[in-house]
This record gives sequence, C-alpha cells and structure tokens, in this order.
Amino acid sequence: KFEKIWLIFGIGSLIAFLLILGYGAFWKGTHPQSHGVTIDPNNIEAHEAFQPDNLGLTKVDDDKYIVNIVASAFNYNLGTDDNGSPVKNIRIPKGATVLFQVTTSDVVHGFNVAGTNVNMMAEPGYISSLETVMKKAGTFTIVCNEYCGMGHHMMYATVEVY
Ligand code: CUA
Repeated sequence: KFEKIWLIFGIGSLIAFLLILGYGAFWKGTHPQSHGVTIDPNNIEAHEAFQPDNLGLTKVDDDKYIVNIVASAFNYNLGTDDNGSPVKNIRIPKGATVLFQVTTSDVVHGFNVAGTNVNMMAEPGYISSLETVMKKAGTFTIVCNEYCGMGHHMMYATVEVY
C-alpha cells in the first residue's frame, strides 16, 4: 500500500519537474534573442544600423524606438549629442516598444539593462537584437556582464524610462 503511494508521489514529482522545465523553455522562447544576423566585424559601419548617425536612440513610429549600440572595451557607443559629446543616457517613454540592436567592435561584451528582461551578449561579427516593452519607469543601468578586460566594470550607460 505504502509503495503505491510513493510510486504515485514519485511520478507526480517527475511530471511537476517536466512541467517546470517546459514552462522555462516556453518563457525563454517568448523572449527571443537572435544571433542570426552576421556583419563584418572589421567594418561595422558598413551595416546601416551602426553608421555613426544611426547609433543610439531613434524614434521609428508612435511609441516605437530602435536603439543601436556598439560595445567596445570599455564603452557603449550610443552616438553623440548636438554638442558632439558621447551619449551616456537615453530617454524612452514608458510603455514604448524598443528594439535593441547590439554588436561589438572588439571582444565579447555583455549588454544587460539591469532590472529589465534585456540581457544579451554582444559578439564580434553578429548583431544581437531583442525587442521589448519598457513597462517600468525608472533609471536602469546598462552593465557588461561578460568579463572583457581591465575596464570591464567601467562599461556603463543608462536607460531612463519616463
Ligand atoms: Cu565589456 Cu565586460
């Protein structure tokens, strides 16, 4: 009698485990990250997205934005402002849909907008992209979560959702 109970318990646990696994895979599947697009790592600017004028934030439609970023040791290039200074903060209205497109001009870097689901690797020769809706207001720090050298911890920029 006891054996039967344990058998049922065991099978029940197994089913629960598989369900959790399946759900995890589904959850990941709903946040796709494409590594399919290749670019010339020695001539990033040949790709439209990474031409100097197209870096950083671009509004493409009502509540639709694209953010193009070139990571490098130890910087996130988000273009320059009207004064020619490097942009270190981008401002996006709450609820907007944003497509992040990231590549790197040297080694592998991370691109994690801390506190959001935006978490990618920037790999030489590839464009990593992820579309998301900025649901929470606040200032979110972009951090590099792949060790890339001495200045790894200094790679920094912010996304302000207002
Ligand atoms: Cu770039 Cu760590």
